[in-house]
Amino acid sequence: MQISMTVNGTDVTSEIEPRVLLVHYIREVLGLTGTHWGCDTSNCGTCVVLMDGQPVKSCTVLAAMAAGHDIRTVEGLATGGTLDPVQQGFMEEHGLQCGFCTPGMMLTARALLDKNPHPDDTEIRQAISGQICRCTGYATIVRSVQWAAAHPAGPGLEDAADTEVKA
Ligand code: FES
Ligand code: FES
Repeated sequence: MQISMTVNGTDVTSEIEPRVLLVHYIREVLGLTGTHWGCDTSNCGTCVVLMDGQPVKSCTVLAAMAAGHDIRTVEGLATGGTLDPVQQGFMEEHGLQCGFCTPGMMLTARALLDKNPHPDDTEIRQAISGQICRCTGYATIVRSVQWAAAHPAGPGLEDAADTEVKA
């Protein structure tokens, strides 16, 4: 079957088998291997991408179900060579160790901040509750998202009214 969708702002059209999962379509057909594939049982959340701005586990979505939708992967976070504040936050606050969970965590954080620019600790933890990190203990991930919330325009350009990091 033929499917078309927008991926990171680019229209793509492909011939695929109807059984192909979105995670495999993204990785193997489009070659965007920043989206990781961890469990295939909908448990780990490393495969999270944004579909129309909402985080989805791409191992639970058929590529055909994404037809006509807007998909954003980790490769689409940076714009014009500038890191998204979420990516910068993960660097500043050491929000990763092995990095396997990181693409999905950052996309969930981006979706959260787009909806709620000032999330508290509990709201951040709720947002990432469907995703597993085996390395960090989550504390630095939460701090990374808080950093991004405090620097919506990137490093050095924080909104002075929003610099307080919520605990
Ligand atoms: S690979 Fe999708 S939830 Fe683990
Ligand atoms: S940084 Fe290793 S699983 Fe999260």
